[in-house]
Amino acid sequence: MALTFPASPPSLFLFFFFLLLFFSLSQAQVQTFTYVNEGEFGPYITENDADYRVLPPFSSPFQMCFYNTTPGEFYLALRMATRRSESTFRWVWRANPFSPVRDNATFSLRPDGDLVLANPDGKIVWSTNTANKGVVGLKIVPGGNIVLYDNKGKFVWQSFDHPTDTLLVGQSLPCQRADQAPQQE
Ligand SMILES: *[C@@H]1O[C@H](CO)[C@@H](O)[C@H](O)[C@H]1NC(C)=O
Repeated sequence: MALTFPASPPSLFLFFFFLLLFFSLSQAQVQTFTYVNEGEFGPYITENDADYRVLPPFSSPFQMCFYNTTPGEFYLALRMATRRSESTFRWVWRANPFSPVRDNATFSLRPDGDLVLANPDGKIVWSTNTANKGVVGLKIVPGGNIVLYDNKGKFVWQSFDHPTDTLLVGQSLPCQRADQAPQQE
């Protein structure tokens, strides 16, 4: 199939210039990251006696972590910890309650705006299905809601819409639709 381009060289140049500019702008906007489930475990005792690895997303008293209670079976989770004492380290949200991941799994916000948890072989275990929906970043907002927001600050996805076994203040329990019901793999 032949594509017709503007005829004269200067306009052809401009065409590709703006095409490139468009792609670089639309990609560069997303604050991408990739965190690998590796390294030392954290020093504190947590609920369920779990081992954990702290991840950068943090908003006191909430912190994202990988944790496991069985070797090699990790959950991507949100920890709530108001004090460094045993009783207050709780897991209040899990991304993948039925599909644990292994060491070296990756948690990433991709350039297309999808938030993805994948095993080291690249197999995707969980994602927010937010590719190409305008997501520019991830943050934890007060109350412990993990959100993906667009460039107007609107929440494209929020963990409060996907509760696991703990409800935080301000979080409601949505009527569960059949397509969102937990599924055992
Ligand atoms: C994780 O990856 C690192 C670096 O590639 C490797 O040295 C380590 O053995 C891996 N860990 C596991 C449990 O596979």
